[in-house]
Amino acid sequence: MSAQIIDGKGIAAEIKRELKGEVDNLGKQGITPGLAVILVGNDSASQVYVRNKSTACERVGIYSETRMLPQETTTQELISLIEELNQRRDIHGILVQLPLPPPIDKKLIFTSLSPMKDVDGLSPVSLGMILWGNPTFTPCTPAGILELLQRLGIDPQGKRAVVVGRSRLVGLPLANLLALKRKGGNATVTLCHSLTPGLASITKGADILIAALGRPLFIRGEMIKKGAVVIDVGINRVEDPSTKKRYRLVGDVEFESACKIASAITPVPGGVGPMTVAMLLKNTVQAARWSCLEK
Ligand code: GUN
Repeated sequence: MSAQIIDGKGIAAEIKRELKGEVDNLGKQGITPGLAVILVGNDSASQVYVRNKSTACERVGIYSETRMLPQETTTQELISLIEELNQRRDIHGILVQLPLPPPIDKKLIFTSLSPMKDVDGLSPVSLGMILWGNPTFTPCTPAGILELLQRLGIDPQGKRAVVVGRSRLVGLPLANLLALKRKGGNATVTLCHSLTPGLASITKGADILIAALGRPLFIRGEMIKKGAVVIDVGINRVEDPSTKKRYRLVGDVEFESACKIASAITPVPGGVGPMTVAMLLKNTVQAARWSCLEK
């Protein structure tokens, strides 16, 4: 038996079609959703992600502008730009691409974002609202995973979910969202990481296993429960001289061995990645809608 390959790319395309309709409707009210994306430094993977985000915006009719800043940008300079964007009426969402160069104080940066424009869901207010049980903007990758599960008819209620990886971007918010007392939540959640003793015995108990630790091929078939749903969040570049770019993308899960055990699995690429972008667009449209209510 081989697992169902979850078509994240196709589901994301469906969501983008739905959003295009909503953007057209907002247009009739004179509103064009606007997103500002800030990229600091020269990280080549970040450059690709930011380009994808801007292309996706264009396709659904969202205005986007990318602000590229040099590697040496200071915390204060970045805060000044965010404060300028916080004030702009035509910008409804602001995204600061991670990673930021290390001297920049990430906590200060994300605190300076207006919570009403935090479409990436990473500000202390947005993350805190998850613990209060009223998520405002949900971080895009966790939001994309919940949306995938919902559209596939996989209800976390009554299931054991194991999240491997405790990042602020994915693992921490996702574990809390899956545990929330609401539709799409109510899972029994275990949050693990690379230092968890006896990790395989825990992952083997998971009905829903989420690999989000950023280590290539870390989760192997023998660590997976028969029939589990496996969500692979990792996007790792590994050297491959046989390709033009001299690298290829692999997930945190060893796909071939996992396919033989799982009932469904997300591929890399084409699984969670496109859903992250779709959720960014969805949050931006939501932010534009909220801005109408303020008028
Ligand atoms: N870097 C990799 N993924 C993301 C994301 O979803 N948001 C931000 N801001 N940075 C990222």
